[in-house]
Amino acid sequence: MAKVALITGGASGIGLATAQLFASKGWTVAIADLNESAGNKYAAELKGSFHKTNVTDYDNLAQTFVQVWKKYGRLDMVYANAGIVEKVNFYEEYKSDDDGLPPRLDDVVLDINLRSVVWTAHLALHFFRKNQDKPGGSLVITASTGGLYATPLLPMYAAAKFGCVGLVRSLAVYLEGTGIRVNCVCPGAVATGLLKKEEWAKFPQDTMTPVENVAKAVAKLVEDESLTGKSLMVVQDRLTIIDNPEPSDPALHGMMSRDNKFKDGM
Ligand SMILES: NC(=O)c1ccc[n+]([C@@H]2O[C@H](COP(=O)([O-])OP(=O)(O)OC[C@H]3O[C@@H](n4cnc5c(N)ncnc54)[C@H](O)[C@@H]3O)[C@@H](O)[C@H]2O)c1
Repeated sequence: MAKVALITGGASGIGLATAQLFASKGWTVAIADLNESAGNKYAAELKGSFHKTNVTDYDNLAQTFVQVWKKYGRLDMVYANAGIVEKVNFYEEYKSDDDGLPPRLDDVVLDINLRSVVWTAHLALHFFRKNQDKPGGSLVITASTGGLYATPLLPMYAAAKFGCVGLVRSLAVYLEGTGIRVNCVCPGAVATGLLKKEEWAKFPQDTMTPVENVAKAVAKLVEDESLTGKSLMVVQDRLTIIDNPEPSDPALHGMMSRDNKFKDGM
């Protein structure tokens, strides 16, 4: 039976390119996205399924997992990829209103790019463990180079993506040996629906990363069973693994090293 992938944000850009690549490799692909028309169109093209999903709604996201499980009876790969960039200027200076406060911050980028990723990971673990022939599976998260390096213009986006890298590193240690692997892909700039065409046009064009290369990086993370806890940076055609750094203070080794999984203590 074909392996099954569930891809959030699979109706556009990086998620769609990954859905297309996995379908071409014989996988069954379930696309979970807000965009119903594109999702239905591409799911039909790829002979997969579309599940209208708002990843910021836990029940809705959970029901998508249930639908996919009921339809296929297995789940081999989950790609937590849906995301946006923040639309507000964090640094904007406001004249104080009567309370002396700026308006409430629009931080929806944290909901989509981090909280829903944590939820997707939580649900993925549950369904991976239910796989009957071989419990386990591969979880991939789309972080970003903005999850590895300072991104001054998008500080909340960076905070969310650094969070994704931390989630991957932490889950992978605990889950080592269980058959569940967790990795993230960290793309450089990729011209997708994330920004408008005119915004992408302002980027230095010779530094852009083709969307197909990100999809290939995701496939590498899924296919190479030695990889877990890694951040795979993909910039243009270059792939670089960024590993979990060793703690810089000796006092932290016992507490935070990969050898100490706290398994018995938790
Ligand atoms: N494009 C880049 O330069 C770049 C670089 C690094 C990381 N990323 C990350 O890649 C991921 C995919 O983005 P993309 O560049 O392909 O952009 P995209 O806009 O082309 O695709 C994002 C998809 O996510 C869906 N989506 C957004 N909010 C959703 C929600 N609440 N529920 C369900 N689906 C939702 C959109 O409908 C869309 O189909 C994002 O996490 C983004 O942060 C992008």
